[in-house]
Amino acid sequence: MKDSKLLPKERLSKHIASLPKSGIRDFFELVNNMNGDEEIISLGVGEPDFVTPWNIREAAIYSIEKGHTSYTSNLGLLSLRKAICRYLESDYGCSYCPENECIVTVGVSEAFDLAIRAITNPGDEIIYVEPCYVSYNAEIRMALGVPVALETREENEFSVDVEELRSKVTPKTKAIILNFPCNPTGATINLQQMKAIAEIAIENDILVMSDEIYSELTYEGRLPSIASLPGMKERCIFLHGFSKSFAMTGFRVGFACGPADIIASMMKIHQYSMMCASTSSQEAAEEALKSGRKEMEKMREEYMERRNVMVQGFNRAGLSCFLPRGAFYTFPCIKSTGLKSKDFAMRFLEEYKVAVIPGTAFGKCGEGYVRCCYAASMENIKEAVRRIGLFVNSLKG
Ligand SMILES: Cc1ncc(COP(=O)(O)O)c(C=O)c1O
Repeated sequence: MKDSKLLPKERLSKHIASLPKSGIRDFFELVNNMNGDEEIISLGVGEPDFVTPWNIREAAIYSIEKGHTSYTSNLGLLSLRKAICRYLESDYGCSYCPENECIVTVGVSEAFDLAIRAITNPGDEIIYVEPCYVSYNAEIRMALGVPVALETREENEFSVDVEELRSKVTPKTKAIILNFPCNPTGATINLQQMKAIAEIAIENDILVMSDEIYSELTYEGRLPSIASLPGMKERCIFLHGFSKSFAMTGFRVGFACGPADIIASMMKIHQYSMMCASTSSQEAAEEALKSGRKEMEKMREEYMERRNVMVQGFNRAGLSCFLPRGAFYTFPCIKSTGLKSKDFAMRFLEEYKVAVIPGTAFGKCGEGYVRCCYAASMENIKEAVRRIGLFVNSLKG
């Protein structure tokens, strides 16, 4: 076999090679290497600890039993798209046409990827709110866009400072990405802020990508979607899925709803790269919308109790912690310990066997914080906060 004449660095796409590895993945590798260590409590992974409700699992089994083993329409099962559109109408006040304004994807991850690639020309600026889900910055860069971070701070309850947002808008701004309730802070925005953001988008002819993956998991009342505000439907891409609120991460089903031209463009990428989401998973998702609401509500109530126990535990340990309004993460401040986020997370894992994620994995302004997921058993949460008390105490001496 002939040796490759390409130097190692020439074999790879430069812009992909320049992307940093996800800070979360680095940390998981570390935890995995420590596996076998029975005592480790993981507050790291952002996924429900609940098994998918039985009737949803059963729908997937039936789908296979019935021999539904072929591709679906590239846009996704029409019956599922109809169910999604009914759901967005009844619960979010957003009206979409299942035939051409809705696409079923492999998780919100794919929906996000399609949306960003469908709207971004090289050099377009995309504003996103930091600290944020680890994929946003990398996804924008992979689409050859320019990521523009809008920092949020604990003193503003990690919410959007509308004037600061306005100052980030330039003639090159193509879109704003919103994710409320937010991963990793659990913050939301209020209606007034939402209206102000919509006004900025309309005034400057900017698109809005709203990642609503945690929208059902709110604890202080539900907000409408920004897509339902006047003048927003035509400039909004509504991204959502079944992973979190229906505890269906492994099924890999998400969706996007939006203006027909954008959905058609997303569809082009989807049909060449993915073709369709898994057929049995789509049927399970349809069942989730039909009968999964009660179970979802039970999980939400349970998460709220766990949130309270975790936040109280941090406060007892002397750490300030913003009370998250949604999702299933807390973002306690660890600045008083004198440790950097990464050192705190490393030492807590090595010395006290609890895995949390350094806040910097979610953006520079996450320094001084760690993300702890409370989609873990109450028993583990109580033990983890007991150990955090011991750890913080040990740092004082
Ligand atoms: C904000 C946010 N968006 C999207 C995703 C991806 O979710 P999915 O499993 O639907 O691909 C996650 C997963 O953690 C997330 O936190």
